[in-house]
Amino acid sequence: MPNLFIPREVSPGETRVAGSPETVKRYVASGLQVQVETGAGLAAGIPDADFQAAGATLVGREGWKSAAIVIKVAPPEGDEIAALASEAIVIAYAWPTTHAGEVRKLAARKISMLAMDLVPRITRAQAMDALSSQAMIAGYKAVLLGASHMTKICPMLMTAAGTVPPAKVVVFGAGVAGLMAIATAKRMGAQVEATDVRAASKEQVLSLGARFIEVPGLGDMEGAGGYAKEAGEDVLRRQREEVAKRVAVADLVVTTARVPGRKAPMLVSEAMVRSMRPGSVIVDMAVESGGNCEISVEGETVVRHGVTIVGTRNLPATVPQHSSELYAKNILNLVKLFVGKDGAIARDFKDEVLAGCLLTHGGEIVHQATADLLSAGAKA
Ligand code: NAI
Repeated sequence: MPNLFIPREVSPGETRVAGSPETVKRYVASGLQVQVETGAGLAAGIPDADFQAAGATLVGREGWKSAAIVIKVAPPEGDEIAALASEAIVIAYAWPTTHAGEVRKLAARKISMLAMDLVPRITRAQAMDALSSQAMIAGYKAVLLGASHMTKICPMLMTAAGTVPPAKVVVFGAGVAGLMAIATAKRMGAQVEATDVRAASKEQVLSLGARFIEVPGLGDMEGAGGYAKEAGEDVLRRQREEVAKRVAVADLVVTTARVPGRKAPMLVSEAMVRSMRPGSVIVDMAVESGGNCEISVEGETVVRHGVTIVGTRNLPATVPQHSSELYAKNILNLVKLFVGKDGAIARDFKDEVLAGCLLTHGGEIVHQATADLLSAGAKA
């Protein structure tokens, strides 16, 4: 019976786990033998006993060696890759732009790596889309973090002691995280405005009851797969001028704007921070890909010009239980595409979703865009 192994995450700050008692039960029912590393779920609030009750066996680090399938969150590290049986299947985030060495090692060891960050953004793959499930949680948490640093409350209050106006929140980027940030801020009673370079986002922003900041002359910047294209300098300047007016009076600014594979666009300059009222807050959700705010600091919360700028990394890991449950479900749905009822593993990965996120296989980097990127990086 093939083994599926769920290790404890060792990457600093990674509190999530790739399986949940619910998904373990489903793996066991499909004919897989599940091994969970002792303590794998502790940081996410899932005790070892819950995994055992679901049918898993507890093991140590040796679980890496015998596994046919390893499911995890952070990209596998060098010693983990070295411990794997040749031709094992690994499902995790790969982040190939920052983990080129690991990708090459996976290929060299003939590992079949299915990368959760490369799952195609197509309707059929929505149940496997971890980028979306985790971005939703991150967008929610960004607003909570921002609100907790504010010197004001969010909702309007009309009391005998006077009237408190609603807080003003500006959200940059109305993708998955941005829409969740908008919805969360609205629920908290704030007045919300949002901006994006994709025209399609306007309707979604309006449907959440927020205002859309129009940028004069801005055409649609939607590119392949619904993602944003990199906006030109004149577009970015016009957008900056328009939103600068809103930022100057905002109590909370949440920035979520990213362009896949590239540095995040700089949207909130130091001058804009200086224009803000002391006590206001910026949460830079793009801080790990270069930052949307010129002076945010990755991994830190700093006060600059009287404004608190939150640069917390890996927001989903700050809400690990629900993040893990959703991520575990995303992985289960992917595994179901190549594991049959009797635990039989189909290794051709021909399915459109599997083929789209297959990064390394048979000793090669088979994901063309990543192979091109890594060979360009190697030549540079
Ligand atoms: P993302 O995390 O790459 O970017 C976040 C947002 O920032 C995007 O809305 C993007 O347009 C915006 N942005 C980029 N540059 C900007 C700039 N200079 N100024 C303002 N905003 C800027 O994107 P995310 O959230 O992962 O998804 C983007 C799109 O993909 C959305 O349309 C989403 O609905 C679509 N999508 C489709 C799925 C499917 O069909 N299965 C699943 C998930 C997302």
